[in-house]
Amino acid sequence: MSETKNMTIGVLTSGGDAPGMNAAIRAVVRQGLAHDCRVLGIRKGYAGLLNNDMRMLKARDVSDIISRGGTILSTARCKEMRTPEGIDKAVAVCEKRGIDALVVIGGDGSLAGARELSRRGVTVVGIPGTIDLDVGFSDYTIGFDTAVNAAVDAIDRIRDTSSSHERCSIVEVMGRHAGHIALWCGIATGAENILVAEKYDGDESAMLDEIRDSHKRGKSHHLIINAEGVGDSMAMAQRIEAETGVETRATILGYMQRGGSPTARDRVYASTMGCMAVDVLLEGKKNRVIAYRDGGFCDIDLDEALEMSSSENTGIDEYQWKISRSLSTRYSKKDTP
Ligand code: F6P
Repeated sequence: MSETKNMTIGVLTSGGDAPGMNAAIRAVVRQGLAHDCRVLGIRKGYAGLLNNDMRMLKARDVSDIISRGGTILSTARCKEMRTPEGIDKAVAVCEKRGIDALVVIGGDGSLAGARELSRRGVTVVGIPGTIDLDVGFSDYTIGFDTAVNAAVDAIDRIRDTSSSHERCSIVEVMGRHAGHIALWCGIATGAENILVAEKYDGDESAMLDEIRDSHKRGKSHHLIINAEGVGDSMAMAQRIEAETGVETRATILGYMQRGGSPTARDRVYASTMGCMAVDVLLEGKKNRVIAYRDGGFCDIDLDEALEMSSSENTGIDEYQWKISRSLSTRYSKKDTP
């Protein structure tokens, strides 16, 4: 298509960083250059766009970054992009810098910014990048796999020391309002309880009974995975200890989940999504987002995608939630001595 020839593509990462973003940036640059495009790397997300902080990226600029966590472009949460003035400014910078299309790598908030730009005539393609997996339109987001693996590694370690001391452990994982990381970590580590905001009603009585019960049975530990959206793990630990007499410690894993070298899955999926974003632009499409759905990669309309995210589609997997309950160590009646 003639209008897509020699395109200038701007690429930015926005919102919380996520392992694998570098692989996506690298893919946009290399796939773009392979098709005679120029690629402008925009620093610090939308803040960099508003400040005209960008530079042309060559193939060598993205060498040796696929294995690195974080984002070489830096990222930010930009309040100004939520204002009409901010959008005006961003559109003006795109025009001034001759940006024909923008690839935005980030979560829902960042993609909502891209939609605003699209409504103002800027060609955009989004790539879902967030450890939280809290988008409704894609079964995969860049960084989730690495974050879960990092958290699982940490939880296994905590479990060792918890068992030695016969303690109850609460491990708080990230995810903002979403419980995907907690659910996956809980299943992967065989946690006795998984608390996610989507399901938790604040009633601790059943959990307290289970802790008392497993302690009575001589179990050496009791592991609770608490989603960030449920919150205050420290206070919960104090309540559990006071109510059950079982020594309890809380650990908030925090930002260690968001850093580190991306897993092979995050590298490969992010690379695929980055290349696909460029392909979609070369096909002359606008206002799209790359998704992983039903076992394959695809591009979908950005408005429709964000619509899906505002509905109940962002919730945790119901079947996985159900099995997480049967997989925990609550003894079935048959096994009860
Ligand atoms: O969206 C990713 C995430 O790490 C969430 O899990 C968490 O709630 C939030 O970002 C933390 O944001 P910040 O880096 O601004 O503290």
